[in-house]
Amino acid sequence: MEVIIRPDKESACQLACDLIFDAIALDPKIVLGLATGGTMENLYARLSKKINLAGLNLDTVRTFNLDEYIGLSPTHSGSYRSYMEKHFFSQVSIKTQNTFLPRGDALDVEQECLDYEKLIKKAGGIDLQLLGLGQIGHIGFNEPLSSLASRTRAKSLTPETRKQNAQYFGGEANVPKRAITVGVGTILESTRALMLVTGRSKAEILAKSVEGPVTSLISATALQLHPKCMVIVDEAAAAKLVNQEYYRWVFENEPEWERYR
Ligand code: GLP
Repeated sequence: MEVIIRPDKESACQLACDLIFDAIALDPKIVLGLATGGTMENLYARLSKKINLAGLNLDTVRTFNLDEYIGLSPTHSGSYRSYMEKHFFSQVSIKTQNTFLPRGDALDVEQECLDYEKLIKKAGGIDLQLLGLGQIGHIGFNEPLSSLASRTRAKSLTPETRKQNAQYFGGEANVPKRAITVGVGTILESTRALMLVTGRSKAEILAKSVEGPVTSLISATALQLHPKCMVIVDEAAAAKLVNQEYYRWVFENEPEWERYR
């Protein structure tokens, strides 16, 4: 794992944007794992702008989102399909048939989860998995005690998670109680992972996720087991990290980061 600390939210999002853009430019057939949440809105705005300015072709890019609320149709304003359409898919020229999210309104949720795993496998697996960090340390909707070997399945959301997402539903009472999420095990199989975390409110949970012991109580700690995971954060989110100096040194000195400094 590498932690990259950028001075502010804007430069953290820009670095994540540049990394994803370069990955697509290098491999036009890339399979991207995509995430939702407030943090990603800034990133998607930058990424769509950069893609359009450069005229980058997305015809052969495929995307798989991490999660979707159970019970919502794709057209529901609170669904992650709607989120993705609004913030990214409608902003760039991408083929809808190449963009995948679990169906929250599937009649057979268990089958939908199995099918989603199969689709990812058929696509050759995720090349680059984008991740946000929930207030309780979840990735996707892998709530506390999610098995570190879990696959795509239904999870009940914690009250904290429903509170965090209340703003998108006009109040906590309207937030769905369950969601389909890609599993921790599925996430760990991605070739590369990129977690983007900004803001002071994430400082404690980020430190636990990155520097604390691996535990299923905080699914983001599983990323410590990922063979190639980049964690891009701003100063505010980095505030509680013990080894900040080392992380800064790595970014300044590793040849891999030269073109992004
Ligand atoms: C939701 C998503 C997560 C995301 C989290 C972060 O819970 N299911 O995948 O990481 O939001 O949200 P925010 O960026 O708004 O803090």
